[in-house]
Amino acid sequence: MRARDRHLPDGYVVTAALARVGYDFPALTSGPPCSRRKIVPDPFSAPIAILDLDTWQPTVSKDETARYARNLESGGVLVLPRLGFGLTDDERRFLDVRWSDGKAKNISLDGDAIKGAQGSAGDLAKMTAMVARFATQASGLVAQLFPRYAPYLKRARTSYRPHPASGRNVSWRKDDARLHVDAFPSRPNHGERILRVFCNVNPNGEARVWRVGEGFEAMAQRLLPRVRRMLPAEAGMLHALHVTKSRRSEYDHLMLGLHDAAKADASYQTDSPQQEVRFLPGTTWICYSDQVMHAASSGQYMFEQTIHLPIEALYEPERSPLAVLERVTGRVLALRA
Ligand SMILES: [Fe+2]
Repeated sequence: MRARDRHLPDGYVVTAALARVGYDFPALTSGPPCSRRKIVPDPFSAPIAILDLDTWQPTVSKDETARYARNLESGGVLVLPRLGFGLTDDERRFLDVRWSDGKAKNISLDGDAIKGAQGSAGDLAKMTAMVARFATQASGLVAQLFPRYAPYLKRARTSYRPHPASGRNVSWRKDDARLHVDAFPSRPNHGERILRVFCNVNPNGEARVWRVGEGFEAMAQRLLPRVRRMLPAEAGMLHALHVTKSRRSEYDHLMLGLHDAAKADASYQTDSPQQEVRFLPGTTWICYSDQVMHAASSGQYMFEQTIHLPIEALYEPERSPLAVLERVTGRVLALRA
């Protein structure tokens, strides 16, 4: 055992590097990584809120829940700098890219099956248990923080990301080092929310670095004029051709359009309001990735849990991207359940 390793009551160990307590936002005061970039303060910029919690099963008061929900549903990022994901001594060997099969971007757990990984059956079973434990803890955390969400919470894919966040040779559309909101071309969601829980488990002290952009409505006002209207037969045709798994709504069309418009615009990437946020190892953070403009600049070794929530689960549905886009366009963009 290294001197500063932190032993958790349930037998897991947060390594010395992971156990670093503290949080730094150098760019909040010093600006983004590119020094020639002039950043304009944005009144709608996503707020970063720090939660001083160190357990995956926290007890929170109604007032705290209301405060956290307002921040999260307004497009904020909730940061828990003292909440790390503990690994066993045996599991720490998985902090190595050699466990990736080299084809998929991430190692992921969808249901009971682990994908994108390689190793012996025994190793893969242990890796599956590790990723599944993160899924349980992350989902439990969300249910504890937001009791209203609990009955609606749909746990989707869990990913373990051993590869560096940037540097892969991908097209501009798939380049997540560019500011974007999450939108999926083949999986229309009709306004259902995409909540994500992340945890940096880097064993070498390396931060996960994001750029967080302007607020959703400001972004939409700026970029929506560039997004073409959906054609009348488009949704039916895409579904019939199996491009989409279900019929794409106009909401999905606009979200994809905003995703692409932001990523395709080099000047938006450099000149729009943004701030750099550094998530140190041992930090967990939560955000609605369909609402927060985000870009993964650097970092390696991270866990991520995706959770889907229907609009009716929200504390303040009128803050959702669907409600914002319907307000801005003056049209109904998705059928309600
Ligand atoms: Fe993303």
